[in-house]
This record gives sequence, C-alpha cells and structure tokens, in this order.
Amino acid sequence: MVASHAARVLVASNRGPVSYSLREDGTLTARRGGGGLVSGLSAIGPDADAVWVCAALGDGDRAAVLRGAGGTGRLPIADTGGQHVRMLDIPADTFASAYNGIANSVLWFVHHMLFQTPLEPVFDEDFRDQWAAYVAYNAAFADALAEEAGQGAAVLVQDYHLALVPQLLRSRRPDLRIGHFSHTPWAPPDYFRLLPDDVAAEVLSGILGADRACFLTHRWADAFAACCADVLGASVIRDAGSLTITHGGRTTRIGVHGLGADADFLRERAHRPDVDERLAALQEAVGGPDRKVVVRVDRTELSKNIVRGLLAYAQLLRDHPEWQGRVVHIAFAYPSRHDLAVYREYTDEVSDLAEEINEEFATPGWQPVVLHVKDDFARSLAAYRLADVALVNPIRDGMNLVAKEIPVVSDDGVALVLSREAGAYEELGDDAFVVNPYDIRATADALHQALSVSHGERAEATKRLVAASTALPPQQWFLDQLRALG
Ligand code: F6P
Repeated sequence: MVASHAARVLVASNRGPVSYSLREDGTLTARRGGGGLVSGLSAIGPDADAVWVCAALGDGDRAAVLRGAGGTGRLPIADTGGQHVRMLDIPADTFASAYNGIANSVLWFVHHMLFQTPLEPVFDEDFRDQWAAYVAYNAAFADALAEEAGQGAAVLVQDYHLALVPQLLRSRRPDLRIGHFSHTPWAPPDYFRLLPDDVAAEVLSGILGADRACFLTHRWADAFAACCADVLGASVIRDAGSLTITHGGRTTRIGVHGLGADADFLRERAHRPDVDERLAALQEAVGGPDRKVVVRVDRTELSKNIVRGLLAYAQLLRDHPEWQGRVVHIAFAYPSRHDLAVYREYTDEVSDLAEEINEEFATPGWQPVVLHVKDDFARSLAAYRLADVALVNPIRDGMNLVAKEIPVVSDDGVALVLSREAGAYEELGDDAFVVNPYDIRATADALHQALSVSHGERAEATKRLVAASTALPPQQWFLDQLRALG
C-alpha cells in the first residue's frame, strides 16, 4: 500500500534525529541530535517530501509515539526542526534483543573485531531467539518504509541495525530505489565467518537487496565484496574504478562516500559564548599557557581504545620525564550503551586508570589527566580549540569524525596521532603520526613526536588535514548518494 502523503526521499536509521525523556509529572521533553545524517538531510530543504523512519529507543520515545498524530507514529514537527519523522514503537523486548543483543553485541563486535574468541561468541538458543527479534525489527522498518514511500522513491537505509531492510523492502516494493550505508568498518571474511553460516548469508543478501551498498572507505567496501564472494559465492566485478556484486540474478553497485566534517557548523558553534566559557575553565585546569595539551573525545566505546591511549600517555611520561609538568591529557569519555555490562566495566576501567596515572605522576599544581565522563558538546568544542595534539587511536573505526573535526576547529593547529585502523586514515594518514593501536610504546613515541613538532610544520600539516577533512561535507555526502541512486 502506498500512503497518500507518499514521500519521495526516505531515510531509515535505528536512532532518529530526536529523542524524548519522560518527566515524573508525565510531560515529555524533546532533544534534537546532531550528526552527519541530520545535517545531510537538511540539504534537500524543508519543503522536499522526505520522511525519516526511526525506532523508539526508550520510554520517553514510546510515550511520544502514543501521544502522536492518530497513532501514525508521526512526531510533531515542532519537535523535529521541521522534519517529517515517523518513530516505530517496536515492542520493547523485541527492540532490546535486536539492538542490544544482535546489533550491538554481535554485528558491532564482528565488524570491529572485538570478541575475546576463546570464550565468545557463543551462538546458542538465546542467540537464535535474539536473531528472530532482529528479523522482526527489520521487518517492522521495511513495512513502515513500504507504506510511506511514493512510487519510485529513494530510500537510504543506515547501518548494521538495518542490514536486512533492503532485501525485505525490495520484496514489498520492487519499484523503489534503495541504498544502504554502513557507518562501521566491515570485517574481513575470516572474521565475518565467525557468524553462523545462515546468519552470515542473510546479512550479506539483506544488504545486497539494495541498488547501491555504500561504505566510508575503500577498505571496508573491499572487505564486504570479499565476504560476498566467500560466503555467497557472489561474483565481484571491478571495472574502471567501479565495483559491482552480482548474486541471485541481481547486481548491486558498491559506493564509497567518505563523510567529512561539517566545517561551517563547527566553526560557528565553536565560537559561541558557552564554548568560550568552557575554554577558560579547561585552560585553568591545564594550569598555564606553557603546558601542551593532548586531547581525546570519544564515546566510552570498546573500539575507541581509550584504555591503551591512557597507558600510552603514562608510558610517555615514563619514557620522556621532560614532559612531566609540561603536558596535560584532556580525555572526554562520554557514556554509551550502558545497558551492556561490558561497556559499564570498560567505563570503570577508564576512570580507574586515569586516577592511577594522576596518583603516580601528579605534583602540586599539575594534574596529568583531566577526565570528564559527562557528555557536553560545548566542552568538546572547547577542547578541540585548545588541542596541541589529538589522540585518535581506535582498534577499528568506520571513519572517526573526531579526527576530522579537531583540525577544523583547533585555534592554533594540531598534530594528529591517528590509528591506522580508523577509516579516517585513508584520507588523513599522510599528515598524521600513524600508530598501530595495540602498540603502547609506539603510541607513546608518536605522542612524543607530535608534542615535539615545530609550530610551522604543525601549521602546514593542519592546513592539509583541514582540506582532506572537509572534502565531503555532510550535505554533499547525502546528495551524492541520492544522485547516484538515479
Ligand atoms: O558508527 C555507527 C553508529 O551507528 C554511529 O552512527 C553512531 O555514532 C554510533 O554508532 C551510535 O551508536 P548508538 O546509537 O548505539 O549510541
């Protein structure tokens, strides 16, 4: 069935552009999020017929859906900044199994290669129940998209949460033009094949239901193609720079769109009074203009490698005692996925280690690590402005936009220490101090080099980092994908 309001462009993602919290008195507060998709979608203008389909994530969202227009799941546009958003109230237990169980504990772990394999993963009966929930959750999205989309509309499906949607949607609405975008890395075949064979095949054929399957880097696109060849026996054809995958009589084009930083937004936002205030507070915590500042800003996410980052900083202070008293590490590790015990434990480990480093090295008037664990975007921007060195050392990362944002916002140029396993390495590697994220001594050494680089060299490298980081702003990234769908 095609809805009467029939959208021309649709976006589907697990997390939508707005979330609600429910106060004790029963009132709802809407909070709008930022990020590449929000900014990208704004490129087509508020009047374009576009709908964003997302899931209700918590009780506040569910209440908002219930109170919404006639049970349609449409949110009031006053809450969404003018966007048409349909939020799906998927039963809470189905949602939890799909999101926490499969998306974040299995697919995320596969793509970021996070399993401690002697003991995990264990694909038992519980896993099979969760997988059934993941299929149902994907089907709910496919149903809603099929209902909302106008004839021949373009549908841009986001990420590993919704890997099955392209195929499910195509079977419901063969007229649609469907794109899928993976914001994560993609695992190489040997690791991807940890998944049960039938599940591995379903994930790949799910995405191949799209006309175009897109990735942040060539490395992840190539890994996906290799998995399709290996697991499905699909035929992978490279021709004059284009990559296509044919399976079951259909051909899917593979695209690479390296999302860049939103320079205009960031520069304007980073000079508002609330950021200036936080900048002054951070400068006071650093304790003097002669001290250098190493900055990291992450969700407290296993793949971000915050613990090894702190170990490397401690190693720097040991190997190069001349930095003691002359450098401060500002580390922001914001809460993430706290429904999962392993994330809660990791967060504790980050805090404990920061404390240990301070106990070992601090002197009166010098605190070597300044750790904040409460999310504050204005304070992040203040830290970006202040950074002499940016530490971005993930185990594995789809892109890592922080690596692109810090050079754009920094007041005085920045030296970037960058993991070769971050997607951003493909574009920024030539102008960064590149590290193997597992190697503490090498990371400590890279920090030393980055702290020691001359002002002139740092300024020149920053110019090149900024150019590469802003090559594909979110709006262009979004429009390129729409155009490429034809
Ligand atoms: O990288 C994939 C992604 O979905 C990002 O778009 C986002 O930064 C992150 O994961 C957020 O995850 P969650 O919605 O679970 O907080």
